[in-house]
Amino acid sequence: MGVIASAPAKIILFGEHFVVYGEPAIVLAIDKRAYAKADLRLDKRIFLRSLNMNVAGYFEDENFKVEEGNPKEAKMKLEPLKCAVEKVLEISSEKVGLNIEVNSTVPVAAGLGSSAAVAAAVVAAVGALLNVKLSKEDVFRMAYDAEKIMHGTPSGIDPAISTFGGAMLFQIDTGFKPLDVKTDIPIVIGNTGVERSTRSQVAKVRSLRDRYPQIVDPMMRAAREIVLRAIEALKDGDLKTTGELMDINHALLYGLGVSDESLEWLINAARKAGALGAKLTGAGGGGCMIALANKDSIRNVLEAVQRAGGNAFLAKKTNEGVRIEPV
Ligand code: PMV
Repeated sequence: MGVIASAPAKIILFGEHFVVYGEPAIVLAIDKRAYAKADLRLDKRIFLRSLNMNVAGYFEDENFKVEEGNPKEAKMKLEPLKCAVEKVLEISSEKVGLNIEVNSTVPVAAGLGSSAAVAAAVVAAVGALLNVKLSKEDVFRMAYDAEKIMHGTPSGIDPAISTFGGAMLFQIDTGFKPLDVKTDIPIVIGNTGVERSTRSQVAKVRSLRDRYPQIVDPMMRAAREIVLRAIEALKDGDLKTTGELMDINHALLYGLGVSDESLEWLINAARKAGALGAKLTGAGGGGCMIALANKDSIRNVLEAVQRAGGNAFLAKKTNEGVRIEPV
């Protein structure tokens, strides 16, 4: 019998880009999850299928054989899953074949941490199937190691929040700290559908900072202050202040040049429909925006973002990190 595990996606609520220069950021796990099912096979192959990406194939020794989708694309999409599986196999003494099936409700490549959620779910599912005792810390390490193989030097925010859930403060020097947030954070997430590259957005900010240090450095200090105030607002469940701080944070990100027309369009629509605050989330230059709203206006905000052309959905904070699902 197989094992199913799941892990949540994330949004960056405050502090993206500034976090690269040592400032704090606040990340939230959201109630959109990636699911991974692990089963034993009779042979020694690692067979992988992604239901939402419509690719499947297996790795045997170092070779990849496609079973569904374009071979190159399938290999690229399935390799991160293989890395996650291998991390668990490395510490298990068993040399087994596995069927891994992934199904994610998280939009892919939109800055919502879909790949880390999938990696954490795969690690947990394979660990449970093979009776390898894994603490959350272990799952985090392995999902992070798998991400490093694929993405170079990510900050580790995504695998951490997917594993532990809830809300977290992250800073490069001090790492992760769970944040005490009493309320749900009702959010509308709007995907512009515009593809962007985190790497090029980060490079853009670096170049701006190199050219205008006296202007950009005070923006960094302002971003830090926003996060410090936001910690208090979240602790008190003060959504109005949280929303205002999101607007100010977005203004700073706009100043750094990482917003774009598609994001501005959705953000304006959300604000006009009564959002308490709205901003881009993640790297910017496309990808997703988020809007905070109270119960009375959240439907309006959702519909406004949809009418403006965004692929929009509702989300809220979840405290549930990686977990084994009942089968
Ligand atoms: O859009 P994402 O989830 O890749 O977020 C990028 C966040 C940045 O602060 C822009 C970069 C980083 O490594 O922290």
